[in-house]
Amino acid sequence: MQAERLNPPPRLLMGPGPINCYPRVLSAMSTQLIGQYDPVMTGYMNQVMALYRDVFKTKNQSTLLIDGTSRAGIEAVLVSCIEPGDKVLVPIFGRFGHLLKEIAQRAGAEVHTIEVEWGQVFQPEQVEQAVAKIRPKVLAMVQGDTSTTMLQPLEHMGEICQKYDVLFYSDATASIGGNPFETDKWQLDAVSVGLQKCLGGPSGSAPITLSERYVETVRKRHHVEAGIKAAHHSEGQGSRIRSNYFDIPMILDYWGDERLNHHTEATSMLYCARECAINLLEEGIDNSIARHQLHGDAMLAGVQGLNLTPFGDLQHKMTNVVGVYIPDGVNGDQIRQQMLEDFNIEIGTSFGPLHGKIWRIGTMGYNARKDAVLTTLQSLETCLRQAGHKLSPGSAVDNAYEVYRANA
Ligand SMILES: Cc1ncc(COP(=O)(O)O)c(C=O)c1O
Repeated sequence: MQAERLNPPPRLLMGPGPINCYPRVLSAMSTQLIGQYDPVMTGYMNQVMALYRDVFKTKNQSTLLIDGTSRAGIEAVLVSCIEPGDKVLVPIFGRFGHLLKEIAQRAGAEVHTIEVEWGQVFQPEQVEQAVAKIRPKVLAMVQGDTSTTMLQPLEHMGEICQKYDVLFYSDATASIGGNPFETDKWQLDAVSVGLQKCLGGPSGSAPITLSERYVETVRKRHHVEAGIKAAHHSEGQGSRIRSNYFDIPMILDYWGDERLNHHTEATSMLYCARECAINLLEEGIDNSIARHQLHGDAMLAGVQGLNLTPFGDLQHKMTNVVGVYIPDGVNGDQIRQQMLEDFNIEIGTSFGPLHGKIWRIGTMGYNARKDAVLTTLQSLETCLRQAGHKLSPGSAVDNAYEVYRANA
């Protein structure tokens, strides 16, 4: 087969992620490879651990990368700590809560769920009531669910988990770097994320952090692979973790002092994850959150200027993505297609009960920028106007400018 030269169109990715990469992250990915045990490489691995401790705001020694997209991080955390029959509680407020449920079930858990309507979040009392009743081993909760654009407050969940001796895990893939996240202060035992949202990288690496309590739990299931086992390796009492690739005790042996061989670390993704963290920390986490808030507010004001209705409880909206109802009489897919074909701008559709009802527009990472916001609003205005949607021309961009002026 003859394939053309790689030359993707210059899209502006304004959906719920992935988004365009920071240019420095792209350059890092094209850097030459080195060997797995080259001291320079192991040095980079140690740097990545230290950098992500700062990103996650934690002192956890066990802070590292799982190779794979964000759900690889989720699978690794859950499959390593869940033994068949363990109870797991998943409060579901969107698609990714359902994903946590499914992954926990596949790991053999007895999964219990509580649900709120999409567009809402949980109160701590609702979660505490369920924890007290079910007494799960793990509470697994998404922070920012891009499917609904809601940001679940996690501040009080850690206290609840400590009180009932529950491991507290959160998937902060879509929120980290653009919304506050405090691993130690909020008493989390495990967190997993991805690069393709506010961290401004591609998907393909899942940074995680694990508390001592979590590590002690999974160490009980430590079984070293036969071909690399040495005399000093003892067998854990717990059952063997059901996945080799996502076996956290073995992965910790690889990232730790022993450097015991496991997978071949995905070097280009490690360069990339390293660059994403450096980029965030150089900007400053608080500055990055403030930037996401500013451009998210400008986009929200802008879509309201388009005579569109935002989706969900705006008090709990993530900074980096907004959902808007597709207006009556407008074909949502056609507008998205026109945005893509005529303006090279991608905006998002939605899933499940919201499919065909809302668009999702992101302002995150490299694309949390004034020009990206204004260009998207202006283009969307043109498409909506041509589709016969009633709006006041110019209001969207003017509304966004108003937000920028008020925050100047
Ligand atoms: C909150 C959340 N969790 C998990 C995922 C899954 O990520 P991936 O597609 O990188 O596996 C996403 C992707 O959008 C997400 O937003």
